[in-house]
Amino acid sequence: MSIHISAKKGEIAKVVLQPGDPLRAKYIAENFLENAKLVSQTRGIFYYTGLYKGKEISVGASGMGFPSIGIYSFELYTEYEVDTIIRIGTCGAYTTDLKVFDILNVENAVSESTYAKYAWEIEEESIAHQGKIFDTINNTANELSLKTKSVNIHSSDIFYRKNPEIPAIATKYNCPAVEMEAFGLFANAKHLGKNAATILTVSDIIPTHENISADQREKALKPMIELALESAFR
Ligand code: ADE
Repeated sequence: MSIHISAKKGEIAKVVLQPGDPLRAKYIAENFLENAKLVSQTRGIFYYTGLYKGKEISVGASGMGFPSIGIYSFELYTEYEVDTIIRIGTCGAYTTDLKVFDILNVENAVSESTYAKYAWEIEEESIAHQGKIFDTINNTANELSLKTKSVNIHSSDIFYRKNPEIPAIATKYNCPAVEMEAFGLFANAKHLGKNAATILTVSDIIPTHENISADQREKALKPMIELALESAFR
């Protein structure tokens, strides 16, 4: 057990898929894994371990924002000897160059957040994916003939804001979209020498307010989930 995860040592696999939403973790476990066992439900943050094509994998939620993913990814890496975390989430596009359902593989996460600075004395405002899993995801996407784009992402602390302009940091680093967790995950993995990637499906186009409706979401996220699962053991 760790402070926020009640699984026993050994009940979490070396590779973890991490959606933001606990119910998405449950959906993935129930629909994509065999013999999935619920190993933690502390605070309603579900973690499951099961088999994908015969290999052991875990899926569990990060919650929203850096404080939450910071806690869960740190405990997974340090208390459960997890080697690789693949975040699978959604993002909002700043530009109509992206379309809803587009799949993005995050090269660098950039943020105004002080999380990395105060947690690990990492001063950079841009932190790259960690290890080889980013390349593996791109290679796997090619093999599956699944179109993905490698991008920099704005990882923000803020969902609602007064000023509707694209934040300066997103323009500075050429970020076409925004989410709220990749920077925290990459900072933890960098500090600990672990592997981390983030795959995102575009769920909303900020300038036009177009979005994937609640009932489209399950189907919309399926290609990303399959890409993450197929990449996990290559
Ligand atoms: N995740 C999905 N859409 C988002 C948005 N518009 N802002 C931040 N995170 C998001």
